[in-house]
Amino acid sequence: MTVSEELLRAPVLAPSILSADFARLGEEIDAVLAAGVEMVHVDVMDGHFVPNITIGPPVLASLAPRIHDAGAAIDAHLMVSRPDQYLEAFAQAGADAVSVHVEACAHLHRTLTRIRDLGMRAGVAINPATSLAALGEAVLFADYVLMMSVNPGFGGQTFIPESLDKIRRLRAMMPPRVALEVDGGVDRENIVRIREAGANWLVAGFAVFGGGNAQVQAGVLRGLVTESR
Ligand code: DX5
Ligand code: ZN
Repeated sequence: MTVSEELLRAPVLAPSILSADFARLGEEIDAVLAAGVEMVHVDVMDGHFVPNITIGPPVLASLAPRIHDAGAAIDAHLMVSRPDQYLEAFAQAGADAVSVHVEACAHLHRTLTRIRDLGMRAGVAINPATSLAALGEAVLFADYVLMMSVNPGFGGQTFIPESLDKIRRLRAMMPPRVALEVDGGVDRENIVRIREAGANWLVAGFAVFGGGNAQVQAGVLRGLVTESR
């Protein structure tokens, strides 16, 4: 499915399945879809760009029909050293938006253009200690920027407080049509401040799947995201 221009500008809660119970992945996703989420965030790690390994296209292909049938989009966050190798596989598996790290791409314009040519929205992801200057002209060729507010690799980490000011500066340098996604340590306590700083796509993993009922947690967080501002 297509991530519409409207969704690029909309306030969105994107639950990250990284903290879900992988033995019950389908049910965990159904729970957040029942809460009305418009996007599901899938973290792909290769054990090279980040010190962890997760899932890839075959798992995504199994999950895609239920996500799309519910009218939600799939946002794949590639924390891999050579994303170009996998773009076609993710498109075929059903990804609707794919982000690649500025730290991993030597030819970002080519990579972002390829993602778009495959019919997906193109995102550029940036680590906490990477200067916004590294994004350079890339915001002109991207549909969204994914700003990491923890170091990539693991769920359940603490939001880096300096990220709030970075969100403000990033929003100011981005064209209005480009979505600003924040990923890492988002919870009930900080989600409204993150939104007010200028982020409109909010990823939450542990806060949704880390305990309690995932549908309820997603519903509360989604309410905070959509009602603020
Ligand atoms: C971290 C991932 C995040 C992670 C967020 O490397 O990119 O998407 O799942 O999880 P929380 O919300 O638990 O920080
Ligand atoms: Zn992520």
